[in-house]
Amino acid sequence: MARPLGLKCVLCGREFDPRSMVYTCPDCGSDGTLDVLYDLVDARKRINRKTLAADTRPSLWRYGEVLPVEKASSIPDLSVGWTPLYSSPSLSAKYGVGEVFVKDDGRNPTGSLKDRASSVGVAKAADFGQKNISCASTGNAASSLSGFAAVAGLKSIIFVPRSAPVAKVAQLLVYGATVVLVNGDYAKAFDLASMAIEKWGWYNRNCAINPFLVEGKKTCAMEIAEQLQWNVPDIVVVPVGDGCIISGLYKGFFDLMELGITASIPRIVGVQAEGASPLVEAYETGAEKVQFGPAETIADSISVGAPRNWAKALRAVRKSGGEMIRVSDKGILDSIPELARETGVFAEPAGATSFAGFRKMAMQGKTGSRDRIALVVTGNGLKDIPSARKAVGEPIEVEPELRDLEKVLGLNV
Ligand SMILES: Cc1ncc(COP(=O)(O)O)c(C=O)c1O
Ligand SMILES: [Zn+2]
Repeated sequence: MARPLGLKCVLCGREFDPRSMVYTCPDCGSDGTLDVLYDLVDARKRINRKTLAADTRPSLWRYGEVLPVEKASSIPDLSVGWTPLYSSPSLSAKYGVGEVFVKDDGRNPTGSLKDRASSVGVAKAADFGQKNISCASTGNAASSLSGFAAVAGLKSIIFVPRSAPVAKVAQLLVYGATVVLVNGDYAKAFDLASMAIEKWGWYNRNCAINPFLVEGKKTCAMEIAEQLQWNVPDIVVVPVGDGCIISGLYKGFFDLMELGITASIPRIVGVQAEGASPLVEAYETGAEKVQFGPAETIADSISVGAPRNWAKALRAVRKSGGEMIRVSDKGILDSIPELARETGVFAEPAGATSFAGFRKMAMQGKTGSRDRIALVVTGNGLKDIPSARKAVGEPIEVEPELRDLEKVLGLNV
């Protein structure tokens, strides 16, 4: 646990007191998201390769010395993080690169990487003595928040678009959240949630607004580095919606360098779906600001036309020497069974989008034969079964007779 030094606007650099509960910079408006600052030189005494090697906690709280939670009693008791990082020799051979790693973040307690942010968000709400916490979400941040709020005894009020997959809505209801299904897209749900949060004074877990949440997400980068014995990959590929996960990954690799634990930041590649790719557009045109647009993709979690964390997301890509790329819905769907069959990791459409992006890069000759590449799989395939079924064929149906089976399979038994 650490008390941050301050919060700093990503656009104008103005600094704020971390205990002031300011979310975004009043001078820059909601575009002015805030970075959490720590005394990382001082933190080196308490978190370094040696302390981490001796730390047996299989959770993101092993990085607590650079997480903004101030009271141990605020930490919800639901294990999060330290998800597996697999090496896939078959994928590296198939796509002609040095090594492919798959970070299976669908293994978190509610099935997505968002649990990293929710655990920190709920802890911050408890630090601040808040009783109600709220967010708008395409689905995963919502189901994740409802789980962590339940454990912490907080009331959660959640706004999701009407199109949110049924499994995610079921999770919300099971965890006891007040669920508001908004008749509109994610942007509409976000705007309604923002007005309600303002009106009723709930704690705001919207990741693009609350600076502490990206801190939770940065632990994914820290784990990747630690699981690779601090030899960071050359490239990290990640799906992008609002731009919080990609911002978190950059912050994680950045903090590790500032702590003197690692020596470089990987090229961070963000992948969006063709029908919802405003950040790709801004990257390609070199724009200073993102133009919000429509969102239409099968990958519901990244169906975001108005990415609220655009400033940090573009910084992550530009500063790390990475890029933003887009993939088709067909590419996303095809990547679900391929990833599962090659690695055993079953991803929801957005989760498989990192793999779809990597495949596209490899096929375009953008990857090198020695590159070590980590793919972040952000959500579990069981979250969206109807989409997964679109990616695969039908099962064989038979009468419960061997003869019938023999006929269908075309085999002699
Ligand atoms: C599974 C999954 N992947 C990727 C994303 C995109 O993350 P971000 O909105 O932080 O860019 C989300 C966000 O909901 C998600 O749930
Ligand atoms: Zn500002």
